Amino acid sequence: MDLRSWLSDGVDAVEDWQATFEPWEPHGSLLISDEQFARAFRSFAERLRENYPFFHPSYAGQMLKPPHPAAVAGYLAAMLINPNNHALDGGPATAQMEKEAVAQLAGMFGLATHLGHLTTSGTIANLEALYIARELHPGRAVAYSADAHYTHSRMCGVLGVEGIAVPVDGGGRLDLGALDALLAGGRVGTVVATAGTTGLGAVDPVREVLAIARAHGARVHVDAAYGGFFTLLAGAEGLGIDPAPWRAIADCDSVVVDPHKHGLQPYGCGAVLFRDPDVGRFYLHESPYTYFTSDELHLGEISLECSRAGAAAAALWLTFQLLPPTPDGLGRVLAACRRAALSWASLLADSAVLDLYQPPELDIVSYFPSARPLTMSAIDEASARMLAEGMADKAHPVFLSTLRVTADALTGRHPGVVGDRDGARILRSVLMKPEAEDVVPELHARCERLAAS
Ligand SMILES: Cc1ncc(COP(=O)(O)O)c(C=O)c1O
Repeated sequence: MDLRSWLSDGVDAVEDWQATFEPWEPHGSLLISDEQFARAFRSFAERLRENYPFFHPSYAGQMLKPPHPAAVAGYLAAMLINPNNHALDGGPATAQMEKEAVAQLAGMFGLATHLGHLTTSGTIANLEALYIARELHPGRAVAYSADAHYTHSRMCGVLGVEGIAVPVDGGGRLDLGALDALLAGGRVGTVVATAGTTGLGAVDPVREVLAIARAHGARVHVDAAYGGFFTLLAGAEGLGIDPAPWRAIADCDSVVVDPHKHGLQPYGCGAVLFRDPDVGRFYLHESPYTYFTSDELHLGEISLECSRAGAAAAALWLTFQLLPPTPDGLGRVLAACRRAALSWASLLADSAVLDLYQPPELDIVSYFPSARPLTMSAIDEASARMLAEGMADKAHPVFLSTLRVTADALTGRHPGVVGDRDGARILRSVLMKPEAEDVVPELHARCERLAAS
């Protein structure tokens, strides 16, 4: 699609609508000349060049990529109106779009019933899930794996709830034996299962976690902020994605997924969904200055945030019209990312200068230089050097990220590594652009050159 022309159509569409109202003029205090704007814009555009090239296949670092052009066109056109999805008074059209897009997300997870909304981030979406956890089980703790996102322990602190980190198994997944033993004590009211950890993309065994939690009267929240859209590949041939944890999400109590990660959206677009719509009662509040145009549900009545960008809902809705959250829609994008991770993992497994840290479960590949001597210190130093030199190479750069792992985690997976210190940085690449599939051999060759230099 020709983004330039669609952006211009977006401006036309909004101006056409505006022209159906009586003529008006912007206030003089807001007027600036094109010359003034050109000056400011030139320096602004220059400042933007200080970014890393998230759009480019040579960027294989963090969870970052530009949104789909359809999302950009939808966001910018809606932003010209700037609706606020807090209430139907503030964003009647985009609030409806939000409800429809959220229903599509619920359908993607197979939820038979749901109550949910978009949020500005995965952090806020998880905060909401933990808030409901606290209201339903006051005084009881929240358990999450030691590899869960730091937001869980932090938000437990914010909510005044005890947070307990449960050890992980040899693949970075929540350890079921340790969870069972912890829950037997009766202290825990909610277990957080992560479907795609931030560091390694490990998928906690949601089905087994659910069975253990239910046996002990605990709830289950699934943090699928990063991994959630991989449910579209559950059981797909040749991609090695075990369907069991993904299918179990439908029976869990809540789930978070971030369209601003794998849903092709700009920041900030997270989402939280609850299986039981009745939890809406915990959001009840008085608002004498809003909720006046309709008796229908206003999204602010089921959300902790007040103002939220209607444009974010517009962008997601428009994207889903074209690439819906189905195996044949968005699923094709994720499948390419997954294939990229699998093919890089097999190259790494055969490399003489790089080692695969652990097989990727989704599209995060973890690896480290086979430094000599093979000690934690040497691996740490070589990983940091590869990161810096990869970015600094002007002609053939490669942009990676590092992951700090403990000595137990590294030597447990690779007994040949000497644990001469507590932890080390290894390398991590999130292959979240489908284009990665075509450049894996080149990325691998560049990393091998860096490792050998
Ligand atoms: C599993 C998981 N949960 C929560 C978050 C936090 O989401 P956000 O950065 O959108 O606040 C992340 C971010 O990477 C994540 O990977």
